[in-house]
Amino acid sequence: MENKRGGWGSKIAFIFAAAGSAVGLGNIWRFPYQTGMNGGAAFVFVYLLAAFLIGLVVFLAEVSMGRRTKKNPVGAFKQLKPNSPWFLVGILGVFTAVMILSYYGVIAGWTVGYAFKALKGDFSQKLTESMVQNMFAGFSSNIGLNLILFSVFILMTVLVVSFGIKGGIEKLTKVLMPLLFLILIYLAAKAVLFEGAAKGLSFYLKPDFSKINSKVILFAITQAFFSLSLGMGTIMTYGSYISDEDFLPSSALWVVSLDTVVAIMAGLVIFPTLFTIPGMSPQQGPALVFIVLPVVFSKIPGGAFFGFLFFLLLVIAALTSTISLLEVPVAYLIDEKKWRRKKAALVVGMLAFMAGIPSILANVKGSYFSKLPLVKEDFLTLMDFLWGNLSLIFGGLLITIFVAYVWGADSAVKEITKNGRKFKFAGIWKLFIKYIVPAILFVILLSRIV
Ligand code: PHE
Repeated sequence: MENKRGGWGSKIAFIFAAAGSAVGLGNIWRFPYQTGMNGGAAFVFVYLLAAFLIGLVVFLAEVSMGRRTKKNPVGAFKQLKPNSPWFLVGILGVFTAVMILSYYGVIAGWTVGYAFKALKGDFSQKLTESMVQNMFAGFSSNIGLNLILFSVFILMTVLVVSFGIKGGIEKLTKVLMPLLFLILIYLAAKAVLFEGAAKGLSFYLKPDFSKINSKVILFAITQAFFSLSLGMGTIMTYGSYISDEDFLPSSALWVVSLDTVVAIMAGLVIFPTLFTIPGMSPQQGPALVFIVLPVVFSKIPGGAFFGFLFFLLLVIAALTSTISLLEVPVAYLIDEKKWRRKKAALVVGMLAFMAGIPSILANVKGSYFSKLPLVKEDFLTLMDFLWGNLSLIFGGLLITIFVAYVWGADSAVKEITKNGRKFKFAGIWKLFIKYIVPAILFVILLSRIV
């Protein structure tokens, strides 16, 4: 009872930091467009299973590895299995972080741009399908503007990470994240009452189970990894700061639940609105929310204000995610290579910026990067596939195998129950981490590569 109170403060801090990492563009930009492309409610249904059965299991594995070693991902593998190639999984995570940061930052730059658009009153008129399409196409193909927005975003990330203003950003997110959540609730409440919203609601919430196929399952699990920041050591790194008094399963459950609720709410804003726009299809791909959200704001009173506030909060949500991305390579360079924090943040930030430039050009029609030879996709889509999909699943598979068989599932359970509380689901967790999760991830990986 005594240390429960002391532990509570730090537990909240971890939940906020991890939820800050998890909640971001993955929930509000990626989840709706994935849902739209993969059959609506059926995808949502599979996603819920993926997040709570697979995501939660891997989340616990990463957190317990982090807390056990109190190290960055590379150091964590080295400590638990010295003189073995396992540390390469950590290296892959470090590399993946830089690559995700490079294209994620470009999209985050769009949210900055759209905040200003809202302020300028661009959404305060009646908007048609072609108007929002043209608005987005014009905006995203403006190279100069996107370079500025992208560099502003990377710079903010570098500043926060290099000054390590942990207290500041933590306090900030404690106010701003709940505010983002409240606005989402408000917008969803408005959207479901739009005339013609029922069609969108049934697309989003009434599952047609015949639509569930291997592709839907694959994308749902990948989305869960991306959205929960799993498979590359972010959660491991954040887990390395957790106190031994915390009960990991409940912290993990909190983060997974918060992340899921935000994603579900985002869909509740997007889909009812989408079906009220004549000519609009849910299969827009990555542009979806940037096309539909302006319409939401054009339809509600005070739309310019709400639009600005919403995109501003989305900028903050994306920032708490990019911070967690940058923190992985920075922690690695500080711990293992003895770099200074400021230098590490700046150098990695610059690398991510340069790697991100082709992702900007990917939206310029006719440019080399808008349709790569061989893959016939644009560069940004390819990056998201390689790093946001493949690498996270691959990393997740290796982490799972490592925890289950190299470190050992029993050692992990010992770490999970360190504070003395009983982990009722220890048996089920072991079953999942040893057999079910690696089997599923392996099959996904195979089908992805083939
Ligand atoms: N989870 C973040 C989001 O949903 C993205 C992210 C992925 C962050 C992987 C860190 C690691 O926006």
